[in-house]
Amino acid sequence: MKKVSVFAPASVANISCGFDVLGLCLDNVGDTLHIEKSATPGIRITEIIGQKLPLETEKNVAGVAALALLKDYGQNVGFTIKLEKGIKPGSGIGSSAASAAGAVVGINHLLSNPYSKSELISFAMEGERIACGSAHADNVSPVILGGFTLVRSLDPLDVIRLNTPLELVATIIHPEIEVKTADARAVLLDKLHLKQAVAQTANLGALVTGLFKEDYELIRRSLVDHIVEPVRSVLIPGFQQLKDNANAAGALGTGISGSGPSVFALSKGMETAHNVAKAMEEVYQKIGVPYETHISIINNEGVKIV
Ligand code: HSE
Repeated sequence: MKKVSVFAPASVANISCGFDVLGLCLDNVGDTLHIEKSATPGIRITEIIGQKLPLETEKNVAGVAALALLKDYGQNVGFTIKLEKGIKPGSGIGSSAASAAGAVVGINHLLSNPYSKSELISFAMEGERIACGSAHADNVSPVILGGFTLVRSLDPLDVIRLNTPLELVATIIHPEIEVKTADARAVLLDKLHLKQAVAQTANLGALVTGLFKEDYELIRRSLVDHIVEPVRSVLIPGFQQLKDNANAAGALGTGISGSGPSVFALSKGMETAHNVAKAMEEVYQKIGVPYETHISIINNEGVKIV
């Protein structure tokens, strides 16, 4: 096989109480990468459609992730990557993670799959490192594994795939502003009160339990963030109103998607997810913020060959 196209979905990281730890894979929004074997060793990004991003391999997240894989592979092989961006950078739904994950899954496929999914997560994380200065894995993990994931440890890498309750649907609203993950990380405090840590740990444990038991009411009670949301929400226009409206329309919980500015809500069932979208859109219509909305089931497959 000489070439392959992959669809790499968007993702929601953190999921309220799981900062840098939890993530989920979205279904109908993502990047498409066309990857081809080349006689020239190394990685060349030949074209980027849809967004203005660097073509230089070392500055491009897909390029850096692919180079990390090739460095480990050690043989003189080469690939070209054409990237169709379906996800806006800086929107908070894992734009860099999708490109990085898509590149390594596609190249692994063309090399006849020498690497495990866990190894592919490590390579894709290198793309995240240049995108925002930290090699976090909470976006790339669900994109590569599908479903909900929990990153227990980065060193050594230990990622656990969680259960996906069948009726969960995500609603995402993206106010059309860009928040760079590096900036959203810079505003975080590096000290916690013990009380905050206790409350956060309790909710994280309960949320994971709720996912496995498919207990939607437990999921509702656990989608609370005592640590990051209070600090970052000031960067998002109308955040509290979005949250109040979404929860009043029936969402199980609402929070910042990754480092924002997108806001996610989880609902039980498609009908509620649509009502939640309408309720959130009303907030931005009223205050005049341009926005984009996505409604998505949870994708249990992750990156797929198309
Ligand atoms: N966990 C990361 C953060 C995700 O919140 O900074 C970035 O998408």
